[in-house]
Amino acid sequence: MARVWIEDLKNLVDQTISLKGWVYNVRSSGKVKFLELRDGTGHLNCVFFEKDCGPDLFLQFDQLTQESSVTVTGTVRKHPKRDEYELGVTELNILQIANQYPISHKEHGTDFLMENRHLWLRSKRQVAIMRIRHEIISSIRDFFDGRGFTLTDAPVFTPSACEGTTNLFETQYFDEKMYLSQSGQLYMEATAAALGKVYCFGPTFRAEKSKTRRHLIEFWMVEPEVAFNDMYDNMDLAEQFVEYIVQRTLKNRPQEFAALERDVTKLAPIKGPFPRLHYNEAAEIIKKENPDFIYGDDFGAPDETIVSNKFEKPIFVHHYPAAIKAFYMKEDPTDKGFAMGSDLLATEGYGEIIGGGQREDNLSILEKKIQEHGLSQEDFRWYNDLRRYGSFPHSGFGLGIERTVAWVCGLPHVRETIAFPRLYGRSYP
Ligand code: 4AD
Ligand code: MG
Repeated sequence: MARVWIEDLKNLVDQTISLKGWVYNVRSSGKVKFLELRDGTGHLNCVFFEKDCGPDLFLQFDQLTQESSVTVTGTVRKHPKRDEYELGVTELNILQIANQYPISHKEHGTDFLMENRHLWLRSKRQVAIMRIRHEIISSIRDFFDGRGFTLTDAPVFTPSACEGTTNLFETQYFDEKMYLSQSGQLYMEATAAALGKVYCFGPTFRAEKSKTRRHLIEFWMVEPEVAFNDMYDNMDLAEQFVEYIVQRTLKNRPQEFAALERDVTKLAPIKGPFPRLHYNEAAEIIKKENPDFIYGDDFGAPDETIVSNKFEKPIFVHHYPAAIKAFYMKEDPTDKGFAMGSDLLATEGYGEIIGGGQREDNLSILEKKIQEHGLSQEDFRWYNDLRRYGSFPHSGFGLGIERTVAWVCGLPHVRETIAFPRLYGRSYP
């Protein structure tokens, strides 16, 4: 008999088939017993009538515990009215009777669930999140691949800091000191000079001792870089990109959104153009609601929420003060003191999901910036070469996958957006 999955059943009505999976729930009411089976592709109600499956099997049923692994054989039936299927069982083969499963169908505390993350992943909610994450990642790849970008992944071991030295993860590389990558950007600037349009997609690391709902220690980032794009072209690209990801996920994953009870009407308007605010404009809005905000400072999470709550679409905030931004950001010659970069702030208080902008392409200014930031010129010798040999205006950005998944799914915390999160204070399982 050919192997089938629950997701295939609509094409197998009235046929006799076998399924393998796990017991999600059991229920019995005298002459009829019900097993809710899950196999990763869906859930199925399996119905046991004594007259169809015989008295022995009918008794065996009572041994079944939550998460026991089984093979069931029977006939596929369609619900007369709803788009649902069930199995009239004739055979049951128990592979293992599961020990008392720690996660029941009642509520559990977050710490307990995180400690049992490897099992928690089997729940309907976690399965829906993992599927949406997958959809987001495949739409990211399709977006760039369909526009002629080349994937040129960046190394994880890096000799230098891209995003400041305060949150670097130090590690040993034989006799040398090395760091885990905070961003692949600097390497994408080199491959952009070779291929024009490139991106990398991989894990990045920040040793941030912060327990917030948006910080992970290890997170995945996609980073496109485009030769000869300026900061405005860069915002256009980010806008098309975010619209594509959100709209495609909405279209392809209605069941998962339903399982999460996500209010999808909040995502429907996520289409370009997105509002664009100069730092000064955003600062004006924040000052009115947060008297503690100091002009010139970076925005805190509550500040981002104040601005983004004024709009039903994500917003770009551009031209942050150069002093609070990374060494590689180009200062605007027409707007002194401000950097040609932008962040994209998501709706519903989710805050920054993208950071990026135009890179400094003038060698002497860049060398000065490296010095001002207390970084070593020697570490950036190769990077500065990009300004020596055919320097070119170029821009790019980084989108954090987990923050994007949290926003799209409407989750309260990034801890549920990746199968095995690395958080400050949690590295198990
Ligand atoms: O704004 P960031 O630090 O920008 C960069 O790393 C640039 N080098 C990217 C580039 O231009 N190629 O990080 C970019 C994004 C943030 O907007 C956020 O979505 C995510 O990465 N991010 C984090 N996500 C989870 N946990 C953290 N600790 C994160 N730090 C940044
Ligand atoms: Mg940032």
